[in-house]
Amino acid sequence: MRASHGIITTLSASFSLTSAACSKPSFLYVSSYAGGITTYKLGSKGLEQVGSISQICGTNPSWQTLVGEDQYYCINENWDQGNGTFTSAKLNADGTLAFVGNSSTHGGPVHIALYGENGHGVATANYGSGTVDTLDISNPALPKVLQTEVFPVTPDNRTGQEQSRPHQGVLDPTGNFLVFPDLGWDLLRVYQVGSSSLQLTSKTAHELDRGTGPRHGVFLKTDSKTFFYVANELANTILGFEITYENDELSFSQVFNGTTHGNGEVPPSETRAGELILSHDNKFLIVSSRLGLTDTFTLSNGTTIKSDSLITFSIDQQSGKLAFVQKAPSGGNFPRHFTFNKAGTQVAVVSGVDQWITIFERDVATGKIGKSLATATLTSGPNHILWKE
Ligand SMILES: *[C@@H]1O[C@H](CO)[C@@H](O)[C@H](O)[C@H]1NC(C)=O
Ligand SMILES: *[C@@H]1O[C@H](CO)[C@@H](O)[C@H](O)[C@H]1NC(C)=O
Ligand SMILES: *[C@@H]1O[C@H](CO)[C@@H](O)[C@H](O)[C@H]1NC(C)=O
Ligand SMILES: *[C@@H]1O[C@H](CO)[C@@H](O)[C@H](O)[C@H]1NC(C)=O
Ligand SMILES: *[C@@H]1O[C@H](CO)[C@@H](O)[C@H](O)[C@H]1NC(C)=O
Repeated sequence: MRASHGIITTLSASFSLTSAACSKPSFLYVSSYAGGITTYKLGSKGLEQVGSISQICGTNPSWQTLVGEDQYYCINENWDQGNGTFTSAKLNADGTLAFVGNSSTHGGPVHIALYGENGHGVATANYGSGTVDTLDISNPALPKVLQTEVFPVTPDNRTGQEQSRPHQGVLDPTGNFLVFPDLGWDLLRVYQVGSSSLQLTSKTAHELDRGTGPRHGVFLKTDSKTFFYVANELANTILGFEITYENDELSFSQVFNGTTHGNGEVPPSETRAGELILSHDNKFLIVSSRLGLTDTFTLSNGTTIKSDSLITFSIDQQSGKLAFVQKAPSGGNFPRHFTFNKAGTQVAVVSGVDQWITIFERDVATGKIGKSLATATLTSGPNHILWKE
């Protein structure tokens, strides 16, 4: 995940829009590893920056979460500089951020998972330090660290997997379990959750083949079954499992194994799987593929560049198997994160190396991503985007 970072160029902002479809403005919050959260308003004039770049999330913000209308959380990964930070803020009506409170965490947090009754708990997956912290956020002004899980270094010191790398916490549909993909250990670590105490209790982890590099996962609950999918950063595969619950444990039974590019296409070796997102209608799974640059994309100024990809799969709700739908350009280099609008008709993607964001149209029925609608160039590489409507 650190394959590219720290790119800072001189201040530049450019906006372009080929469609002005939105009547009511929405806001997009974009975090950048070089520091800062940039707010954009998406309205009839396209993407316009609102206010100045906010520094409330610290030096290397890596993830953002919105609860309800205006409760905002972010974390500072704080590369190799010791402790990370968890920050709580309010979204002002004009789209700017107002600091509420913060807490230190162990080093290198990269994801925020909300859990517990009324979501009063947070688990941070701390990639940098091979730890997981839990925090009580009942009072957003005073987030309080409760528990820390410290994972040992890996025994084989495998390149890129020298230590534990928890990359995300994924709450299961019952709210009783958190799964942490550990990229360093090739484990899906499982914890049972005390929904009022917020206590995490370690359960049997699911082991993947050495070199898989699990990064981000997602649960899908269908009428009769529960599935879990994980995008693997090192193997560039997606694995799907049917999940059953037995004696307070999760049991993983593999139902799908395919490459992130679909159709058995093996991505180039430098490729790194990025984000994995389930569409709001539960029908499609979309993965971003970074650094392979196997697509092309034509910018609004007519220049055609090499681009990474967003790959869409449809989900068989009975078997949990995935079927390839489309491999579309993500709009540039290094789509570490992307997100949908509520209707699922648009997708916003960060291009971390190119230092811009792109909004594409999306067909909800087919799942296919279409033409680009708007772009904005940042002063540093964006890594995460949150869409507030
Ligand atoms: C928490 O916020 C305060 C006020 O903005 C700031 O001075 C402090 O450095 C922050 N703490 C951490 C651990 O980042
Ligand atoms: C800050 O980091 C140190 C070293 O990893 C750790 O001992 C300490 O508990 C951390 N503080 C918090 C609040 O996580
Ligand atoms: C792991 O491998 C690296 C690179 O070969 C080496 O520098 C380091 O000392 C090794 N660490 C351990 C704990 O063996
Ligand atoms: C997934 O498929 C690949 C390619 O066929 C194979 O090498 C790998 O062992 C499989 N992994 C699992 C966990 O089934
Ligand atoms: C188009 O924009 C890209 C990205 O900003 C830039 O690298 C390229 O030089 C531009 N092409 C032209 C013809 O202006």
